[in-house]
Amino acid sequence: MRILLGITGGIAAYKAADLARLLTNRGHAVRCVLTEAGARFITPLTLASLTGESCFGANPDHHEWRPSPSVEHIELARWADVVAVAPATANMLGQAANGLAGDLLSTLLLATRAPILWAPAMNTAMWKHPAVQANLGRLEAFGHRIVEPAEGMLACGEAGAGKLADIERIADAIRAVGGERLPSLMGKQVLVTAGPTCEDLDPVRLLTNRSTGEMGIEIARALRDAGADVHLVLGGGMASPYGMETVRVRTAAAMMAACADLWPRMDGCIAAAAVADQRPLQEAMEKVKKGDGPETLELVRTQDILLNLGMQKRVGQNGQWLLGFAAESEHHLENASAKLAKKKLDAVFLNDISTGKAFGHQDNTLTPVVAEGPQAPLGPLPKDQLAMALVAWWAERVGSI
Ligand SMILES: Cc1cc2nc3c(=O)[nH]c(=O)nc-3n(C[C@H](O)[C@H](O)[C@H](O)COP(=O)(O)O)c2cc1C
Repeated sequence: MRILLGITGGIAAYKAADLARLLTNRGHAVRCVLTEAGARFITPLTLASLTGESCFGANPDHHEWRPSPSVEHIELARWADVVAVAPATANMLGQAANGLAGDLLSTLLLATRAPILWAPAMNTAMWKHPAVQANLGRLEAFGHRIVEPAEGMLACGEAGAGKLADIERIADAIRAVGGERLPSLMGKQVLVTAGPTCEDLDPVRLLTNRSTGEMGIEIARALRDAGADVHLVLGGGMASPYGMETVRVRTAAAMMAACADLWPRMDGCIAAAAVADQRPLQEAMEKVKKGDGPETLELVRTQDILLNLGMQKRVGQNGQWLLGFAAESEHHLENASAKLAKKKLDAVFLNDISTGKAFGHQDNTLTPVVAEGPQAPLGPLPKDQLAMALVAWWAERVGSI
């Protein structure tokens, strides 16, 4: 992706160096544009060194200029797949909201047809000021996207909202805003389940599993980047990705309830959560004391979420699609095919856990199994790329039926 990174005159400008580096390391082409105030906080040399690209700006004495500066803003505006302003000052938000073109950055913000993302950072009182909020509202109405600032201790010594969002989150938002849309998934309502579930034995002990939730989260991101409207039902402690409604759950029963609530409104679902099959018959309200002899834990089955979604699945016109995973350590294909039929799935992704790679490890392979049989395996790839390959595979298949 070609990312134009605008950096304005806030104290958080020093973090833009890390952001530029992160984006460059992820294989993106990054060109930075500094405002005059921005260049007082961070040097063009730092940014040019980190990105390997020229740094552009308002002051020709400080910045490298192309041969025809008169059209530089148009050239840069056309070059970009996405324009991100991080950190964004109250001043720059105000300029852009009102169509002002006082310097290179504000001018190219008017001239570009690429999607625009703002990552504001400022003092809490400034952030909450009705003028700033009205400007943000105007920018959103133009179709611009915002990465909300975080709460925390600010450089001015106050605590509250206004701290530049985490740079990983800004990078995630850039992906979401500038991602390549896949027509068969664009605007589709998609439910994604991810992460482990936890079943409490008593206030200090629980039954859970080794799923991190990473694969499901990466699938949710890939669907979002493709243009789907993602609704994530998430177990475990991982952060919720940018740009999707997230329902956090703990138990299998809570995950079931959240899915049942969403499912009728969805076009499809990818169920990647590792849901507990059993829960303790009783949850003790006080910590259970150890006994002398052998101890028995009585378990009961939890509801099968995927089976329930399959039973409720709309078919025919306006039909829904449902994709699941089968983590198998033996009889892989028979088990995956049986799951496909029993749970009325459109595809099941076979995950061979006999290699010990499924949980928490980086590279993984998934074999899609459909009614006609197993398809060409996806991977081995790191989970983020595997999720993109999975979503691209499904987008092509769903687009052709
Ligand atoms: C030390 C210092 C820190 C500043 N930090 C911020 C900030 O975090 N956010 C903000 O909106 N403005 C901040 N300002 C004010 C801006 O620098 C000022 O509005 C400037 O005109 C912004 O120009 P620009 O939007 O063209 O970069 C700060 C000013 C100074 C002197």
